[in-house]
Amino acid sequence: MDFTVLTLFPELVDSFFKHGMISRGIDKRLITGHCINIRDFSTDRHKTVDDRPYGGGSGMIMKLEPLQAAIYCAKKNAPDSKVVLMTPQGNTFSQEKALELAFGNKGLIFVCGRYEGIDERVYTKLVDEEISIGDYVMTGGELASMVIIDSIARLIPGVLGSLESPESDSFTNDRLEYAQYTRPEEFEGEKVPDVLLSGNHEKIRLWRKRSSLERTFLKRPDLFKKNRPDAEEKKILNEWCRELESFAGE
Ligand code: ADE
Repeated sequence: MDFTVLTLFPELVDSFFKHGMISRGIDKRLITGHCINIRDFSTDRHKTVDDRPYGGGSGMIMKLEPLQAAIYCAKKNAPDSKVVLMTPQGNTFSQEKALELAFGNKGLIFVCGRYEGIDERVYTKLVDEEISIGDYVMTGGELASMVIIDSIARLIPGVLGSLESPESDSFTNDRLEYAQYTRPEEFEGEKVPDVLLSGNHEKIRLWRKRSSLERTFLKRPDLFKKNRPDAEEKKILNEWCRELESFAGE
């Protein structure tokens, strides 16, 4: 999977490509990461990339021509890539969207805006999809592009080590991930649940399923509306209900 980021601040994103899992994925040739400086495509002497808005008003608008040339350059290097524009007006990013982008594309080209906005014709002529990472406004799209690249890259088989798998991630199948523990066995009076020390794989699987259901119920009950409990989940939830009833009756 090829990631290309079009930005006025390439150093910001370059350093992200050089660290952690992302750099490991690049070293293993499972992903590539490149930055293109939009300013390099400005043709005037002053390397201008913004201009005043037609109709007046405050702030500057990113010009069309350098953006178009930067997008064409990125597409030449990675022809089968989808062009996504980072904007708070876009489709909201989610784990579902991460999976869709990870397995539906050979590459992604992220267009990161700065200033007060981008010339409207970029949206209509050059961009395949607009994506937002949430209902808040940042000073540019770079952080948003890194959030998206990070969550997509870890889904590409082999990027995470064989011991870390995205299958039990929170939001996979609309459930939160189960509780995890490591040594020590006891910390300030709080013990690791016995079942996790038992070595009984089926019991551990059921305990984890229940932990995941309890957390989803308490923290994100809305997820059950998106994906109704299956037969095994219903059984575990009923058991939990009965335990709570008997606890309340004590
Ligand atoms: N650029 C500025 N704010 C943004 C957001 N919330 N999501 C994506 N890109 C942005």
